[in-house]
Amino acid sequence: SCRVVVLISGSGSNLQAIIDQCHGRQGVEIVGVISNKPDAYGLVRAHHGEINTSCVIARKGEKRAEYDARLVAAIEAYQPDLVVLAGFMRILTEGFVNRYLGRMLNIHPSLLPKFTGLDTHQRAIDAGETEHGASVHFVTPELDAGPVILQAKVPVYEGDDATVLAERVHEQEHAIYPLVVKWFAAGRLKMRDELAYLDGEQIGASGYA
Ligand code: GAR
Repeated sequence: SCRVVVLISGSGSNLQAIIDQCHGRQGVEIVGVISNKPDAYGLVRAHHGEINTSCVIARKGEKRAEYDARLVAAIEAYQPDLVVLAGFMRILTEGFVNRYLGRMLNIHPSLLPKFTGLDTHQRAIDAGETEHGASVHFVTPELDAGPVILQAKVPVYEGDDATVLAERVHEQEHAIYPLVVKWFAAGRLKMRDELAYLDGEQIGASGYA
C-alpha cells in the first residue's frame, strides 16, 4: 500500500479526515506525522490513531536549507511514497520541493489561483467574493502555484466573518483531501510538466469544481 507521511503545524483536522477516511484502508498507510510545532494538536490525533510522530523544530537563526535538510531526514526515516502537507505553515526551499516533485500534495484554503498566501478567508470577504473554497494541488517550487487537482466551492454570505467562512471551507477540505489521497494511492494521479492527470486525463480546477 501507499506509504504516506503527513506534515502539520496545528490542529490537524485534515490529518484527522485522512485518518478517518483512508488510513489502513483504500491502499493508504499513514506511516508518520511530522510537525514543526511540538504542541500541535494534530500530534495528539496521530497518537490516538497509533501513528508514529516526529517533530522538526526550527532552530534560532537556522537557514531554510538547513531546516529542510533536517526535515528530509525525518521524512526519509518513514520511506514514504507520498508527502501530504496538511496545514504545514512553512515555506519550503526549491531543493526540498524538487526532491518530492510529483509525490507531494498540499491543501490551500482558497480557490487557487485566487488568494495565495495567508489570511485567505478575510481577504476573500474583503474582496467581495460570493464564492470561496479550497484547493488540493501538487506542490511545485512557486508558492501555492502547483497544478490544481480538486477544488471545493462554498458560498460567501453577507455578514460572514472569517471564522464562519473558515469553518465552511474546512468542512469541504475534509471531503476533498482524503479523496485525492485515495486517488494517488490507487496510482490514478500523476504530475507531468507541471500538469495534473487523473486516469491519464489532464485535470484542472474547472473540471471538478
Ligand atoms: C487548512 O485550512 C489548510 O487549508 C490551511 O491550514 C489549515 C490547517 O487546518 N493551509 C494553509 O493555509 C497552507 N498555507 P488543520 O490543521 O485543521 O488541517
